[in-house]
Amino acid sequence: MEFSPEAQLIHVGTERKAGAPLGPPLMPASTYFSAGDPDPALPGYGRIANPGWEAVEEALAAIEGPGCHAVSFPSGQAASMSLMLALAGDRERIVLPDDGYYNTRDLASKLRPHGAEAVTVDLLDLDAVESALAAGPSVLWAETPTNPLLRVADLQRLAALAAAADAPFVVDNTVATGLLQKPLEFGALASVYSLTKSLSGHSDVLGGAVVTRSAELARALRDWRTAGGAIPGPFESWLVLRGLKTLPLRIARQSDSALAVATFLTGHPRVAAVHYPGLSGGSLVKTQMPNGSGCLLSFELSGTAADADAVVAAARLIVPSTSFGGVESTWERRARWPAETAPAGLIRLSAGIEPAADLIADADQALRALRPGLVPATGEAGASRRRRCRGPGPRTFRRSARTGPRPWFPPSPPARNGAAAAPSGTPVSWSA
Ligand SMILES: Cc1ncc(COP(=O)(O)O)c(C=O)c1O
Repeated sequence: MEFSPEAQLIHVGTERKAGAPLGPPLMPASTYFSAGDPDPALPGYGRIANPGWEAVEEALAAIEGPGCHAVSFPSGQAASMSLMLALAGDRERIVLPDDGYYNTRDLASKLRPHGAEAVTVDLLDLDAVESALAAGPSVLWAETPTNPLLRVADLQRLAALAAAADAPFVVDNTVATGLLQKPLEFGALASVYSLTKSLSGHSDVLGGAVVTRSAELARALRDWRTAGGAIPGPFESWLVLRGLKTLPLRIARQSDSALAVATFLTGHPRVAAVHYPGLSGGSLVKTQMPNGSGCLLSFELSGTAADADAVVAAARLIVPSTSFGGVESTWERRARWPAETAPAGLIRLSAGIEPAADLIADADQALRALRPGLVPATGEAGASRRRRCRGPGPRTFRRSARTGPRPWFPPSPPARNGAAAAPSGTPVSWSA
């Protein structure tokens, strides 16, 4: 009998014998007793095998379903680097999203001397993806929803294009996590994760992992990890496992809250656009992420980058901070990072586990602290977003240019059954 991934997560690493601790003990050993020839089934040296990783990898594999292997790393970037090295050495190109996490693009271009060329495309433009893959032996690297624009690419169709071009297809699934989206079921060879975000969930550890059904790829990744030494430490692994056990509860609450905040923002007179997959209710989102859209949303003010900085700084509960997925809500103006290509005034918000009503109240008081007289819809943020993304994606809600400022309505509390709280008042006209 196979228990649910949620149940397996709670119990991995527990030895069912008298006197055993329920959580795996922390074992900070770098080397282990061993005589004679090394036994591959036992730990010998901490860079090659480490009991601290095993439970984490078992838990991550359980999330994505039977037959999976997980290989863990000390950060998401270390996981991405090993995956690129394992897949791209004998290929000409890595085809990546042009609006995904900017450090992945940077990493791919830095690895150029060791293999493939980084080529960026809009993954929602399937003709562009097909042409990019046709140009030479490639790896197709997707990220969906993307960070920070939360655009959703069609995994099944991308998998079909990759298969037709004989290109390994991998998906950065950090934003959704394997509980909300299972790329391998849509035809991906591997899911890659930053465990630093929702999976560990407490803003106290960095980690990364790759999950795949291919034993061959898992072996290649372990080889890169052993050779390159990019290993997670025992304490970090222990923290990740501790966080993973509560992932199902956290992600459900954070998805509900993110949807409630996004819904509230779509009705706010000082907000020009809101990006959150759950807002659209479109069939692609329902098919790929049937159980929620995760903690991350972003929005654009009808104002300048300085206005966005002022809103972020005015928060009293939401923490001005980078990263996402922690139990505490955080936000930042994303383009304060020089290599970020998001619109200058875009604010990325990660919903934590505080009650949604508190988040809405805090976002609202921060927005209301802004200077008066901002022009909705046609401000700098909206214009730069339109230039960047060739039209809004299916889950972007943008205030219609014809819609003027509207009165502020106090937020309604979230519904008891976990359904999203809609802002009170009559909805204004939004263009999707
Ligand atoms: C989508 C995505 N992938 C990968 C990473 C890299 O993760 P890490 O910071 O753990 O190296 C991040 C970090 O923000 C991310 O947002």
